[in-house]
Amino acid sequence: MTSSTLTITPVSEHVGAEVSGVDLANLDDAALQTIVDAWGEYGVLFFRDQALTSPQHIAFAERIAPIDVNKFFTPVDGYPQIAEVRKEPDQDVNIGGGWHTDHSYDPAPARGSILLAREVPPEGGDTKFMSVGAAYDGLPDDLKKTISTLRANHSNAHIFGPESKHAKEVGHRLQNPDHVGGTTHPLVIAHPQTGRKMLYVNAAFVTGIVGWSEDDSNELLATLYEHLVRPEYSYQFSWEVGSIAMWDNLATWHWALNDYHGHRRLMHRITVEGVELSAAA
Ligand code: OGA
Ligand code: MN
Repeated sequence: MTSSTLTITPVSEHVGAEVSGVDLANLDDAALQTIVDAWGEYGVLFFRDQALTSPQHIAFAERIAPIDVNKFFTPVDGYPQIAEVRKEPDQDVNIGGGWHTDHSYDPAPARGSILLAREVPPEGGDTKFMSVGAAYDGLPDDLKKTISTLRANHSNAHIFGPESKHAKEVGHRLQNPDHVGGTTHPLVIAHPQTGRKMLYVNAAFVTGIVGWSEDDSNELLATLYEHLVRPEYSYQFSWEVGSIAMWDNLATWHWALNDYHGHRRLMHRITVEGVELSAAA
């Protein structure tokens, strides 16, 4: 496949583009570079009809960056690099069922997640994506100033720890509850690929603003979250078997809708490494 057949079509005003005319199992270096550049520009890329085997999924991910294995998700049989994102017909709670970004609790959070649909419900099971760069740009100047020097605490203990409600609900789909931990990151980061300012907080893993009281912290975070979830910053993607979404965890939030009870949905996810984050100047 040569890059001359590759087409990139934005899917909404602020986030996401569909990439067509490409076979991810057979990509030349020019096409790969075009994809990486588009990833920086659009935050999430969508591909259709990619019937990748697990080794091909791994090989594609490794061309983007080294794999950052998720500690908590059950891996796909025989492929410890691939996390299984599964919901069975008799299960109520899904994985990723609220706005979040992956791995923000790590000192060098995974840059990207490459999710491949293996089984999809007949209807529903879409994923929403949102641009945290556009959301930052849309903040009032005084708020931009307030948050410019702040850091947030990020943790996964309340999500993946042994006592967490979520871990109990999704039980056997998770592992290693004793590997929980956290870190701090600036609220506004400079994106390592593009330099764009990104609002790097998320309601799933942020536990507070460093050095602030719980009340003040909750108030500021609520203001930021209310702004971030404005519909104009987001796009809703509908999956088919063989669809891939490759999102940038530093540039987007995502939310797996849980509206397909009684049906199986099975996705394979590979996360790829990122770097330690710097505050935007
Ligand atoms: C994830 C996740 C989204 C989905 O894999 O990180 O949040 O649509 N899943 O399954
Ligand atoms: Mn996720």
